[in-house]
This record gives sequence, C-alpha cells and structure tokens, in this order.
Amino acid sequence: MEHTLTTAWRSPSNIAIIKYWGKHGNQLPINPSVSITLSQAYTETKVSAQRKSGDSTSVAFLFEGKEAPAFAARIEKYIGTLSEFLPFLHDVDLTIESSNAFPHSSGIASSASAMSALALCLADLQMQYTDAPQSPSVFFQQVSLLSRLGSGSACRSVIGPVMAWGETDLIPGSSDVFAVQLHDLDPVFHTMRDAILIVDDGIKSVSSSAGHALMQGHPFGAARLSQVKTHLADLLKALRSGDLEHFTVIAEAEALTLHALMMTSANSYVLMTPNTIQVMNHVRAFRRETGIPVCFTLDAGPNVHLLYPDAHHARVQQWIEDVLLDFCKDRRVIYDQAGHGPVRL
Ligand code: PMV
Repeated sequence: MEHTLTTAWRSPSNIAIIKYWGKHGNQLPINPSVSITLSQAYTETKVSAQRKSGDSTSVAFLFEGKEAPAFAARIEKYIGTLSEFLPFLHDVDLTIESSNAFPHSSGIASSASAMSALALCLADLQMQYTDAPQSPSVFFQQVSLLSRLGSGSACRSVIGPVMAWGETDLIPGSSDVFAVQLHDLDPVFHTMRDAILIVDDGIKSVSSSAGHALMQGHPFGAARLSQVKTHLADLLKALRSGDLEHFTVIAEAEALTLHALMMTSANSYVLMTPNTIQVMNHVRAFRRETGIPVCFTLDAGPNVHLLYPDAHHARVQQWIEDVLLDFCKDRRVIYDQAGHGPVRL
C-alpha cells in the first residue's frame, strides 16, 4: 500500500413500520422487521486509510469537525470487531470524519445512518485495498451485514425504498444477518413522505440496547412474536396492493406495541411525553375528518413520524404548520421521504 486510500459515502436513516425489538447472539433480531429508507436524514462519512505506524490500528475520529470521545470509543470498539470480515484493517490506521444532515441534538436516532455510512466506507476501502471489485448486490449485502454489527436497524439503510430484515417464510431470501429489498411494491410506497415532528430533543433516558435486553423473559414476549407474524403478513399484502388503510392500522399498532413493550418490561419505562400523545390523537382525528391516509409511527423515543403519500403533501404540511408544530420543541419538523439508499460521494 503506497498511497493513502480514501472514500466517502452518504447514507440515510430509516423508519421501521414493523419494529425490531429484542435481539440475541451477535446482533440477531428476535423478529423480522420492515422499514422505509429515508433520504434527507443522512450521515456523510469520509474514511482514509494509511499504512499502520504502530502495532495496533489507530482510529482518529472527528464529528462535525470536532473531537467526539463518546462516539470515538463506540466506533473504535465496532471497528475492532470487523477485521475478520475486512482483513485490510490489520494493516492500516484510519482517519474518520463524519457529519449529519440533521442536528445531532434533534433526538433523531442517528445510529442507522452513522453505522451504515461507516460500514460502506470500510467495505469500499477493503475493495480498493485488494483491488477486487464486487458486484453491487454482493457489496450491499456485505455492507448490510457489517452495518448490522454496528447497530441492528442500520442494516436496513443500505438500499430502499422498503427493506426487510429477519428470516421469515413470508419473504423469500430474507435473513437474520442482512436486510433485503422488498419487491412488488405498489408505486404509492415509493412516494411515501415522513414528517418527523421533534416533540423532544433530549437524550433518551433508556438506550435501545437496554430496551432490546428487556425483551429477554418479557411477560408478553411470546404474544409479541405471534403478533409480528400477523402484522407482517398483513403489511406485505398492503404493500403489494397499495392498501393504505391497512398500512395505517399496522403502522400505528406497531408503534404503540413498541412503547407498550417498554412500559410492561421488568424495568418499565415511558419514552412518550404528553405531547407525543396529543399529536397521535390529532393524527387520528385529522384522518377521520379528511379521509387523508396519514398515520403515525414512533421510534424508541418521544418524536412522532407522520407517514403519508406525496400526493397529500401540501394539505398535510399546512395542517402540521397550523396545528402540530405547537406540540414540537422549538416548532421543529424535518420533512423527509422514501429514498433509494446510500450514495458514494
Ligand atoms: O438499531 P437499534 O439497536 O438502535 O434499534 C432500533 C429499534 C427501533 O428503532 C425502535 C425499531 C427499528 O426497527 O428500527
């Protein structure tokens, strides 16, 4: 290796419709999940690899131009687990620079975009190092696997617009180790919008990792697994037929189940705030009154994602600005939409 190798990728976040909640082994999901890949909420990461100067790989990390020791520690630990897949890591020191398109303090989970952007760069550098190009499908499958090891949900960010992760008879080719793209979607799902209402921008009181762990021995664990099967079968039908009414029912049931599981786990906790509930009630009333197929979903946090087809954007945006921004921190909203996954910069 004579020269420094460099690459940079932009990778988006994703929003789950069927939620991944609970894991086992090495970041394997206890249930299949399905998500929409976003486009505006992304991370851009640039990685350079130089021939190693000491005995062990050193990693220098800058987030938005500044040192970020908490992130750096997580990234260094993650990279330490990847050398069996990416042998070039034995030979190099790394310099990583990363930034988010959405404010870090917005309370939006950035691990899916951050980990997938980093995995893309590392897999790309491995290809450059060995000078052995891979086909896009092999490359993205490997990147999905590597992203998963950084953050489970990150494995679904590598293609779009709708991805599934977790082995299930209902999706041929599905796997616990990487995500796959869903085909045969009704075109309306290529146009889905996601308006992310920033209800609270604080740091979550309980991390997703702690939440996943609480699914072990959860009193409703078995019921959750059987519910997921029904939801997944119904969602796949809705995605193929363009049935937005059923899509809405499943998306909202999954969001509320996720939070119900948190509230009923051994160390119970609540991440929704009064404003989260106000927004959800407004969404249901607006849908009843207008017939517009807008629904809510939630991550493991208080912020509300509003999902609706692009055809209704003008009307929904007006309603958000007239009514819903009153429930948002500093009246903040991020308008996002379904996308096709990462791009090389
Ligand atoms: O990828 P993690 O470990 O941060 O877990 C994310 C879990 C949820 O966002 C709540 C659901 C999901 O499927 O993305």
